[in-house]
Amino acid sequence: MLILPGLIDAHVHLRVPGGEHKEDFISGSSAALAGGFTTLLAMPNTNPPLVTVENWRNTQSQAEAQALCDVHHFAGGSEAHLDQLPELAKNAVGLKLYLDATFGPLRLQDPAAIEKCLELWPASKPICLHAELDSLRAGIELAERHQKHIHVCHVARKEEVEMIAKAQDRGINVTAEVTAHHLFLTEGDTQRLGPYGDMRPRLQSQQDQDALWQHLGTTIEVIASDHAPHAKFEKEGFESQKAFLIAEKPLEEEQKRPIPPGIPGLESTLPLMLTAVAENRLSLETLIKLLHDNPKRLFNLPEQPETWVEVDETAKYIFPDHPLYTKCGWSPFAGLRMTGSVSRVVLRGKEVYKNGIINYSKEN
Ligand code: NCD
Ligand code: ZN
Repeated sequence: MLILPGLIDAHVHLRVPGGEHKEDFISGSSAALAGGFTTLLAMPNTNPPLVTVENWRNTQSQAEAQALCDVHHFAGGSEAHLDQLPELAKNAVGLKLYLDATFGPLRLQDPAAIEKCLELWPASKPICLHAELDSLRAGIELAERHQKHIHVCHVARKEEVEMIAKAQDRGINVTAEVTAHHLFLTEGDTQRLGPYGDMRPRLQSQQDQDALWQHLGTTIEVIASDHAPHAKFEKEGFESQKAFLIAEKPLEEEQKRPIPPGIPGLESTLPLMLTAVAENRLSLETLIKLLHDNPKRLFNLPEQPETWVEVDETAKYIFPDHPLYTKCGWSPFAGLRMTGSVSRVVLRGKEVYKNGIINYSKEN
């Protein structure tokens, strides 16, 4: 048996408020514990998004009341609510800026507003960027000019990781994160997976993936899941749900939305990385840095005393069609051979997970 520290997932979408049919604080934090995570950093692209102090506070206090592990929320940058940033900066774990298209309405397109976000946010807390290629180039330039800490979310391409490595060599305060899915899936899997293999950034080439592995533990300091659950009926498209189409009634506006990008990852990230350790593609020491030490330091997260994760590093199994706890009920890794599973999690002295079962009591 292996003992790991309570792991930190620095990039998850828990869908509260407004998307609770995809995930909520109980299902999301249960999935976290089953996957070996005791701290989650949650993204602000909710509905409404966490761009005002009021929304941020309501959501953070709901998480504190309901979640079974620690949850810290990011604030979102939006053109209409720039005035909220100084107050949000006091409590949020970081700022998230969407410079490229993704799920939700939070994309920032006005260069003046982006500039203002960089100006208003304190240098002591990371600014997480969803930025690909040209927008990443622009983001790095902003980090340098404003002397702020930019954390690049889910880096996916060789060109991007090399751009980040160069910036780091020049002393610019840029850190980077990669997802397990970009380390284990490529564009070669997109046809097989269909909508279940669609996320932002998209899956890239084998050459891109090789570069991510080469920079893992050096240029790339964090592995995060980008857990982005969407219901099966949303991934399949409403049109496929014949039961909804009563007597040729036209689709409601709500049902015409495009298929949302994003895949769940809380319950598959650690098993995948343990599999990489079993196959000698990664050392256990680096795994702990990427999933605990580095995110803890970069996001200045509090200690969790008497907290650990027990892992059976020899367990061999086929990843199930339905992960145990995420509400979305599917995984792009279904059917994959894995080595290493979580057997028990203790959080602040209390057993919160054992052999597939969550302890739901909030009291000690
Ligand atoms: C995310 C989501 O569904 O919220 N989707 C995704 O494809 N990664 C959005 C995001 O991470 O930016
Ligand atoms: Zn995300």
